[in-house]
Amino acid sequence: AREAARAAGSLEDLREILARFEGCNLRLTAKSLVFADGNPAGRVMFVGEAPGREEDEAGLPFVGRSGQLLDRMMKAIGLDRTGVYIANVVPWRPPGNRTPTPQETEICRPFIARQIELADPDVLVFLGGASAAALAGTTEGITRLRGRWLDYDTGRRRIRALATLHPAYLLRQPLQKRLAWRDFLALRRALDDGVPT
Ligand code: URA
Repeated sequence: AREAARAAGSLEDLREILARFEGCNLRLTAKSLVFADGNPAGRVMFVGEAPGREEDEAGLPFVGRSGQLLDRMMKAIGLDRTGVYIANVVPWRPPGNRTPTPQETEICRPFIARQIELADPDVLVFLGGASAAALAGTTEGITRLRGRWLDYDTGRRRIRALATLHPAYLLRQPLQKRLAWRDFLALRRALDDGVPT
């Protein structure tokens, strides 16, 4: 997977390489490769965990209820999909929306790492603990991690990254939206005033 990902010279290349990649069993049960949505030239890149049923049907990330909440939260800080890029750590839906296994996540990680490197956003937002754990390499829980600026190292450059609560979690725990709003406001400030170093 690492060699295949490194061979991609562009995001379009990477999508084609992933579409042919046979090293992840999830592709056998998924209908679609859910590669990305939005604008890869945008300043912000959101990374979720894995597609759900609606995403698998549409071939696009965050189009179900979680995605609608994400859209509303983005809108509240003046963002939409024309100005942000959205992807997942794992680009195929796990059967029955189960959590991807550590092996599945590990197999897919070089691809999302290359996708981040090629999109080269000013700011990364990890949606949920699984995304933060896979990419920030931390075992700290999302409730402690959220709202803190982290460094994501592409190997060439460090990108400032903010971890926040997953929209699916917010749908189950609406009182926690208060905390997620804080994170979105911090994101807005970073875009306006310069990303904190
Ligand atoms: N949850 C995710 O993590 N990603 C999606 O694309 C949809 C729901």
